[in-house]
Amino acid sequence: TFVVGENCINCKHTDCVEVCPVDCFYEGPNFLVIHPDECIDCALCEPECPVNAIFSEDELPDDQQEFLKINAELAEQWPNITELKDALPDAAEWDGKPGKLKLLVR
Ligand code: SF4
Ligand code: F3S
Repeated sequence: TFVVGENCINCKHTDCVEVCPVDCFYEGPNFLVIHPDECIDCALCEPECPVNAIFSEDELPDDQQEFLKINAELAEQWPNITELKDALPDAAEWDGKPGKLKLLVR
């Protein structure tokens, strides 16, 4: 499966959802997740993210392993998103900031 990682938090560009052939992205207030049981590993979304927040499970950095569980859990709780929308207003400022996980709004 593919996984949305920490750098999506407070950016949420949503370019990823436009290319997903199985519409398996789910949206929270400041983050998106991929449903691991629905993702078909097509890899189309990974290059679409302007802040490189999407990883294949195999390439997820060691310090982001908890995002596997976060994607699985929140995909069951959040609504589906399939259409591009505006990024969060301060997306550019938040790109690459460390320690964003504690800012994740569930
Ligand atoms: Fe969707 Fe493909 Fe990305 Fe999985 S890898 S979330 S199926 S675009
Ligand atoms: Fe997030 Fe990147 Fe998609 S910032 S919403 S994973 S395009």
